[in-house]
Amino acid sequence: MISVTFSAKSNAKAVNILHLEDSLLDHQLAARILSKAETPFNLVRVDTLPMFKKAMAEGKYQLIIADYRLGDFTAIDAWNCLDDRHSDTPFVILSGTIGEAAAVEAIHIGISDYLHKDEITALPRIIQRTLDLQAIKAAKKKTDQELALSEQRISELAGHLQTAIERERASIAREVHDDIGGALAAVRLDLGWLARHTTDTRCLQHIASASDMIQHAAHASQRIMKNLRPAILDQGLVPSIQWLAREFERRTMCTVEVNAATEAMTLTPDVMLTAYRTAQEALTNASKYAIDSNLRIDISNLGGVLTIEIADRGPGMEKAALQKQNSYGLRGLAERAKSVGGWLDVSSTPRNGTTITLSVPLNGPAHPTEESKS
Ligand SMILES: Nc1ncnc2c1ncn2[C@@H]1O[C@H](COP(=O)(O)OP(=O)(O)OP(=O)(O)O)[C@@H](O)[C@H]1O
Ligand SMILES: [Mg+2]
Repeated sequence: MISVTFSAKSNAKAVNILHLEDSLLDHQLAARILSKAETPFNLVRVDTLPMFKKAMAEGKYQLIIADYRLGDFTAIDAWNCLDDRHSDTPFVILSGTIGEAAAVEAIHIGISDYLHKDEITALPRIIQRTLDLQAIKAAKKKTDQELALSEQRISELAGHLQTAIERERASIAREVHDDIGGALAAVRLDLGWLARHTTDTRCLQHIASASDMIQHAAHASQRIMKNLRPAILDQGLVPSIQWLAREFERRTMCTVEVNAATEAMTLTPDVMLTAYRTAQEALTNASKYAIDSNLRIDISNLGGVLTIEIADRGPGMEKAALQKQNSYGLRGLAERAKSVGGWLDVSSTPRNGTTITLSVPLNGPAHPTEESKS
């Protein structure tokens, strides 16, 4: 192993280069040319694969220059034995024998650059360009990693928020059931008692009207409970979606056609809730942005994938609508879909209606559910 250190023309830190070269003369020529370069280099020569591996294991080289043919091995063999830690180290082939096809192939497998020995005076420029490119790649990799991490954090936060919202909803639903439901039942009993202990007609009329109001309040509290904590676990997905559709029709006077083609399936509570919330948000959006449009909901689980598609015939939307600030409905649905291993598609063209599709692969063993049995 021969080490050649060049005196620095500038105060910049020297770049450590490993030179895989079996010709001492060629190495010295490269060393002479690099000594005239602006950037200071430390050039260390090795000429066998074991020496190359040993030198790389030291972990101090920022760049490799390699001849193409080296006795019984080639630069490609050296490239292939770089481990993961060094696979990003820039690798330049400096050879008098490499043909065009081999050079193209080398670039194709990831070699940074190649230079014919006839053009060796261009070596400092090629090295500088390779190092600059490497710096850009490293910066991009770092930015990509940071971006991926921050996306993952946002996704986790969104998942956490959804869970927190569902938990809060369930707790409010319980309170509505226990407090309001309990109080209404007690008042109904008292009204019954009063009705049995009076013969006064006017009094009985008031009792009857109060009973009607109690009935109305009981229905309202049940509706609120269902909205807060849909009873899908008890009733199955299809009946719950049908209930949503009927409620929507009652509120809006639009029709919602529900088609269900389901085979036997097992849906986890999370998947059911995701499907239910998807339909709920799509209907809410339709009531806001596709006013007076009739809707269609298709539910199927054919091919082991649960698909629920909600389509309106409203004005549709531009792609940019999905990026609106303070609009979280569809983004939340996409996060929910991801959290159960599925995905959300929004397909819409202006004036052609909007279709929201949730797809969730179902991996568990098939069991008949309420809706498939009925
Ligand atoms: N069915 C639809 N028809 C036409 N445009 C729609 C439809 N659904 C959504 N959009 C457009 O997409 C945007 C984003 O919808 P999204 O549900 O994410 O948010 P939002 O309804 O505006 O607010 P949020 O759901 O957070 O209360 C809407 O503001 C609207 O412009
Ligand atoms: Mg919305």
